[in-house]
Amino acid sequence: MNLVLLGPPGAGKGTQAKRMVARWGIPQVSTGDILRQAVKDGTELGKQAGPLMAAGKLVPDDLVVGIVKDRLLQPDAAKGFILDGFPRTIPQAEKLDEGLRNHGKALDAVISLEVPIETLVERISGRRSCPRDGSVYHVVQNPPRREGLCDLCGAALVQREDDKAESVRTRMQAYAAQTAPLKEFYARKGLLHVVDGVGAPEAIEAAVVQAVGRR
Ligand code: AP5
Repeated sequence: MNLVLLGPPGAGKGTQAKRMVARWGIPQVSTGDILRQAVKDGTELGKQAGPLMAAGKLVPDDLVVGIVKDRLLQPDAAKGFILDGFPRTIPQAEKLDEGLRNHGKALDAVISLEVPIETLVERISGRRSCPRDGSVYHVVQNPPRREGLCDLCGAALVQREDDKAESVRTRMQAYAAQTAPLKEFYARKGLLHVVDGVGAPEAIEAAVVQAVGRR
């Protein structure tokens, strides 16, 4: 199963990707997570990506394509993968197609999670993440058992730097201008499945499974 999860910031791509990892036993490949780790580790990649991410702008295509190429060559991605946050531009999608084709592979489905803007804003403003293990919570929808602390490791939860209002606006604009056109790109290839991203996470997961199962 080679799957892409598309959707604007806060659509629930990460939340659904984690559920599919548990369901199908294939890895989540989140370019956002990989880049955040690089920023945290202070690597050269992190130094280049950090300021752009904090401002809500996209990281240059060549940097991101290189990361994904390396990641998809890891043995755990041989039987499938869930791409979360990649591709985000037409050139990224073309490079992905080319890379997969060179390895005799192809995408099986692209899921676009559709969520109205006011729900996205509410989700993003309430999101809290664990800086140690990456667990994601929401202060209202999915609160930790002990306020402000990760259920799994007890670390103090933080708000992502790019979840502040001004960066969120830029991220939404980047999605509309650069990523939303991918829906048409994948629709023309017969790969696109539009899924309502509003509702309980388990109901959305069921809709994704049904969409993928139709193929
Ligand atoms: P990235 O980390 O990919 O961020 P994003 O696309 O903006 O997506 P988010 O992580 O904000 O949201 P999500 O859809 O995963 O939602 P989540 O499940 O967390 O990218 C960050 C940055 O990295 C980019 O801006 C860019 O700079 C750079 N970057 C990354 N990839 C790149 C690329 N390919 N090219 C160039 N640059 C790139 O859910 C959100 C909240 O809602 C959570 O609190 C969650 O608990 C809650 N929630 C989820 N589902 C539900 C539900 N069904 N009901 C109620 N609450 C829910």
